[in-house]
Amino acid sequence: MKDKIIILAIESSCDDTSAAIVLDGAVVSNIVWSQDIHERYGGIVPEVASRAHQDYILPVVEAALRESGMLLKDLKAIAITRGPGLIGSLIVGLSFAKGLALGLKVPLISVNHMEAHVLAHWAEPPYPAFPFLCLTVSGGHTQLVVAHSHLNLELLGETLDDAAGEAFDKTGKLLGLPYPAGPHIDRLAAGGEAKFDFPIPQIKGYDFSFSGLKTAILYFIQKNSQENPDFIPGQLNHICASVQHTIIKILMQKLIKAAKDTGIKNIGIAGGVSANQGLRRAIAETGKIKGWQTYIPDFVYCTDNAGMIGIAGYYKYINGQFSTHDLEPLARMPLTSKIKS
Ligand code: KG4
Ligand code: ZN
Repeated sequence: MKDKIIILAIESSCDDTSAAIVLDGAVVSNIVWSQDIHERYGGIVPEVASRAHQDYILPVVEAALRESGMLLKDLKAIAITRGPGLIGSLIVGLSFAKGLALGLKVPLISVNHMEAHVLAHWAEPPYPAFPFLCLTVSGGHTQLVVAHSHLNLELLGETLDDAAGEAFDKTGKLLGLPYPAGPHIDRLAAGGEAKFDFPIPQIKGYDFSFSGLKTAILYFIQKNSQENPDFIPGQLNHICASVQHTIIKILMQKLIKAAKDTGIKNIGIAGGVSANQGLRRAIAETGKIKGWQTYIPDFVYCTDNAGMIGIAGYYKYINGQFSTHDLEPLARMPLTSKIKS
């Protein structure tokens, strides 16, 4: 084990408490504790999230070690999500990581959560070749990124308001679905037809906007429910299919434009919304038509997980990018590995 690079990675930016062991860039264990307590509030309550992280971080780290068969003394570094995310949640993970790193006398590696979503593509082969164009779609972010190398990521565009995941979650709230609604809409859409039309925003360049769609869905549901109180239960599958179809159309339009303009043919999706069946199908089918080499991560590497933090940590380790203990969490964190972190 002496010559192996064994990294403990911790992720606590939002509502998943996660720890992973990554050995020479390969994920050996990846434990994710999803905080289901938020379901009863219909959304994430930041203070509840940080308290739940405090309760679960130690058992989750112990489980990751146990499952990997590694011991604390085997660790060469600790990789930790510095941001972006909920500040209280980030503080729990960061403080834990600093304490453990100090105690074990191993270096600390700071990881940007959004970069890690892109690097989740290196969790399992086949690995994308560079340059790699990635559409990262999560609950808080929607980004189009060109990876020139593992640690050189260029942001082409991002959402100007709501993220794609928020569009799913807020629609779900209007429809009375549990939080997070993305997986429920995905499942319900499979039994429906995209027969209702919603507007596609006309935003220049590679940026996205979802707030207009959110308002359009709200008015559409209010108007139809007034006319027919059974509209939602009677049309649920079709509403879900229509909303999902529109979100995917908005995402795919920009991805296709970016692929055309940059000439990049290695293309992938990442982040929680990349678990969506409709989006996975859309990228695979478009890729066949356009001659793209497409990459779709396994479900566990789409939603938040420490495995991806450990992969990012591995590439930083071999490039000698370590952090000092005055590292503070960042609720907002620009996407670039070029900045000192
Ligand atoms: O990346 P992620 O796990 O956490 C953040 O970094 O935000 O993404 C969470 C988001 C939520 O909005 C959730 O509704 C969405 O991913 N999501 C999905 C699906 N699974 C998760 N959205 C659509 N279809 C899914 N199958
Ligand atoms: Zn995420």
